[in-house]
Amino acid sequence: MTRYLVVYFSRSGKTAMVAGMIAKLLDADIEEVKCEESYSGPVGWLKGLFSLVGGKKSRLTSSHEQPGKTTVILGMPVWGSNVPPPMRAYIESVDLSSARVCAFCTFDGSGDKRLFRRLEQLVPNLSQHRLGLAKPSQQDTRFQNSLKKWVQQITQQSPPASD
Ligand SMILES: Cc1cc2nc3c(=O)[nH]c(=O)nc-3n(C[C@H](O)[C@H](O)[C@H](O)COP(=O)(O)O)c2cc1C
Repeated sequence: MTRYLVVYFSRSGKTAMVAGMIAKLLDADIEEVKCEESYSGPVGWLKGLFSLVGGKKSRLTSSHEQPGKTTVILGMPVWGSNVPPPMRAYIESVDLSSARVCAFCTFDGSGDKRLFRRLEQLVPNLSQHRLGLAKPSQQDTRFQNSLKKWVQQITQQSPPASD
């Protein structure tokens, strides 16, 4: 049976909401990436920005299983058109080389394409299953439909055999 694992980082809940919906659609395991730094509130927003400028490394407080031969869906917000440091730390802490890796990001205006290019450098086996979601909202049926379609595409394309 195919195993799906959704791994996400979320500062203010939007990516978490999408990750939960994807996990439900796929009947997947779900893991939240947490780190020592608190990025909550307006101060957290600024901290996030400074973490990008300074190239600061995140120290994770969450523990994660090694994905192995599974389908991993990485979810993150766009930070300065880039991958947020906590997700970067997660990627560096696990071996994703035998997984099929898909990714989605949430954002307000732009930067999703650049984020995926950066993510490709961190995860060379990143598949073409990538989805950028601007201002996702559960009330938006267009968003719900594009999410369902994306998940369907992931399940339809043959994944690697599970462990
Ligand atoms: C430090 C920081 C940098 C951000 N940079 C961008 C950006 O470059 N482009 C953009 O459209 N949104 C940017 N955003 C907004 C978030 O990507 C967006 O609100 C996202 O959906 C939040 O997801 P979350 O609720 O899961 O944290 C930024 C937010 C933060 C905190």
